Amino acid sequence: MELFIDTANIEEIKEANSLGIISGVTTNPSLCQKEGRDFKASIKEICGIVSGPVSAEAVSMKCDEIVKEAEVLAKIAPNVVVKIPIFEDGLAATSKLAKKGIKVNMTLIFSTNQAILAAKAGAAFVSPFVGRLDDIGQDGVDLVADIVSIYKDYGINTKVISASIRNPMHVTASARVGADIATVPFNVLKAMVKHPLTDIGIEKFLSDWQVLQTVTSKN
Ligand code: E4P
Repeated sequence: MELFIDTANIEEIKEANSLGIISGVTTNPSLCQKEGRDFKASIKEICGIVSGPVSAEAVSMKCDEIVKEAEVLAKIAPNVVVKIPIFEDGLAATSKLAKKGIKVNMTLIFSTNQAILAAKAGAAFVSPFVGRLDDIGQDGVDLVADIVSIYKDYGINTKVISASIRNPMHVTASARVGADIATVPFNVLKAMVKHPLTDIGIEKFLSDWQVLQTVTSKN
């Protein structure tokens, strides 16, 4: 499973990228609003940091306008993937964009049928929102598992991005059910690194090393 980072924060992207663990970035209007920067300038900067897919969301609500907006976004950099929510005009725009070779990440997926439709329209990626489903008492990872299994049965190439990840267990569970990608917020990536036994182990190795230096320096 690949890991993307789910943020529009440049410092977070640079830090995660420097660890060599992420292969793409997802943003959305809420994440961009949090940064308060010019949207296109942010996407351009992100695309200069990460060479893999960078999702930038279109906000138009009519098919032709979505297509126009997507074409502008796709020109920012070759690794831009246009994020489009699932609704009728979004599907129609996705099918037009797919024919033009522009990659779409169909977002706000909350059912298997939406994922089937997104794939039919030619979306390169679908983003089922795990955390938001969990929030309303529906198992988000189950949805990811169902989509992965249906796509596998029918040889569908659309990649499944496990999105709306809220904790490290969501990442493990997404990997277990075969998600192609998990897009993970910075704080969750940081939490994935940590284990108290690792901290204790590092501390013990370092203190034993110091003892060894003291003993050998006396010989
Ligand atoms: C996905 O691409 C979205 O940007 C994101 O995962 C949404 O997460 P949230 O439900 O925590 O806002």
